[in-house]
Amino acid sequence: MVRTAICPGSFDPVTRGHLDIISRAAGLFDRVVAAVIYNPDKARAFTFSIEERVDFLKRVTADMPNVEVGSHAGLLAEYARELGACALVKGLRAVSDFEYEFQMALANKQLNPELETVFLTTSSKYLYLSSSMVKQIGSLGGDVSEFLPAEILNDVAARLTGRG
Ligand code: PNS
Repeated sequence: MVRTAICPGSFDPVTRGHLDIISRAAGLFDRVVAAVIYNPDKARAFTFSIEERVDFLKRVTADMPNVEVGSHAGLLAEYARELGACALVKGLRAVSDFEYEFQMALANKQLNPELETVFLTTSSKYLYLSSSMVKQIGSLGGDVSEFLPAEILNDVAARLTGRG
């Protein structure tokens, strides 16, 4: 049986911290779908279109043979059913992530009892990293090369500084 996991997120844009979680999930599951999922709480705040975020994810996971990229605009629990996924894999950075993630894990379990949520501890070097922090630093002209995968760095930096 192929064990499929979803790495869900807004990925606006995908960071090195996300990529770390996706590649570790790829080591644990047969098939991983890194998926841009619509987050209604952030509806106004997206910098990149869904197509751009999917394209970024495809570029940074191109060398991972068991990773696919997808997107979904409805319930994550339903998407998991469609894909035959048994798990959601998420990175936990700090206690501040916990309450929200715990709540979502319980809601998803209620909506799809066959779906487990697996939390991976973020690697310590990415503990502080978030897409919104990268966007703020980039838009103010700061160097974001440490935070973003090399494959998307120029395109993201150009957009953040208004050159793209
Ligand atoms: O990267 P993010 O923004 O923290 O990811 C959050 C995301 C997209 C995974 C979350 O908002 C989500 O699961 N959205 C889908 C809507 C859904 O299924 N809601 C019910 C369970 S909380």
